[in-house]
Amino acid sequence: MRPSNPFEPILRNSGMTACRLLCLGCLALSSSFVANRAVFAQEKNPYAGDAKIAKLGEYQFRLNCAFCHGLGARGGGRGPDLTRAQKRHGNSDAEMFHNIHDGIPGTAMPAATNGGIGVGMSDEEIWQVITYLRSVQVKAPAQPVGNAEHGKELFSGAAGCSSCHMLQGKGGRLGPDLSAVGASRSMEYLLESVRNPSQRLAQGIFESMKEFPQEYESVSVVTADGTKLSGVVLNEDQFTLQMLDTREQLHLFEKDKLRSFETRRESLMPAYDQKTLSDKDLQDLIAYLQSVGAQ
Ligand code: HEC
Ligand code: HEC
Repeated sequence: MRPSNPFEPILRNSGMTACRLLCLGCLALSSSFVANRAVFAQEKNPYAGDAKIAKLGEYQFRLNCAFCHGLGARGGGRGPDLTRAQKRHGNSDAEMFHNIHDGIPGTAMPAATNGGIGVGMSDEEIWQVITYLRSVQVKAPAQPVGNAEHGKELFSGAAGCSSCHMLQGKGGRLGPDLSAVGASRSMEYLLESVRNPSQRLAQGIFESMKEFPQEYESVSVVTADGTKLSGVVLNEDQFTLQMLDTREQLHLFEKDKLRSFETRRESLMPAYDQKTLSDKDLQDLIAYLQSVGAQ
């Protein structure tokens, strides 16, 4: 078994030199690494193919992961479809273990340990979950159904998506930036976001800073001088309301100074029905979002 402990070289070096000087400290350190090593050195799933373990893993998955990755791991509003054979951050057992154990930095994928998810999962439980994920993995990679090239034309052309959405640094700001959406959301979620935007609202940009995620709710405001504005809520607390109006102007209001305001759990995005956007064009758009997300 090849050791995959990233600290291995450091350990070995320190064993040669520093340890002589800092013997006590080094001993303490290395013994804690030795405990870790058993985990990291494990490159293969010890339970591979075990149906009973997969059942335990399914239970763990429901408890800790389905909230973001959806029931059956088919993807949800906050995490990608994990049944795809081709994973973005690595398909091997060791890579999946690492992604789950430590989270994926720079993304919303939390570590399953150190309080990242719930009470934290043991290594054994992580392997159980991986066994489960393998059992629901789709054998053949899904056919790329849409034409990403055409989707790109539609996005900034006829379908008008770019008037509200930023993608790779270009486009409007009223809706969320879609650069990562193709990679982090399921196909079904994307389809539904376009056909029926109010069904599930995207999480707002302040999500990570708040205890309760702010969603992209719509808001209509009448100011003290009678000006009417509509747009999306960026942030709201007991006394203030921060919004972006449909002309992308940012406003911060004290609520008690407004003549009226009303927030609605409704998307400001128009629902695109089959007449406005055919199923084929929608597939092309999603293929485009996925191709951008995969970069
Ligand atoms: C708070 C939401 C959230 C939770 C909870 C969560 N994940 Fe994730 N996970 C994500 C997101 C978002 C990504 C995509 C990261 C990216 O590429 O942008 C991801 C990515 C992954 C990946 C990598 C997929 C790939 O294509 O490489 C794996 C594997 C994974 N999650 C497994 C799990 C497991 C197992 C659990 C439960 C122990 C879990 N996740 C819990 C949000 C979550
Ligand atoms: C008038 C502005 C507007 C237009 C035009 C528009 N959107 Fe949106 N979109 C929004 C807003 C606002 C949200 C956030 C509320 C919600 O989730 O529906 C959103 C949300 C989304 C989401 C969900 C994002 C997430 O992170 O959950 C997707 C996907 C999306 N739009 C795709 C599209 C595509 C594709 C088009 C073109 C066919 C499009 N939008 C056109 C305003 C718009």
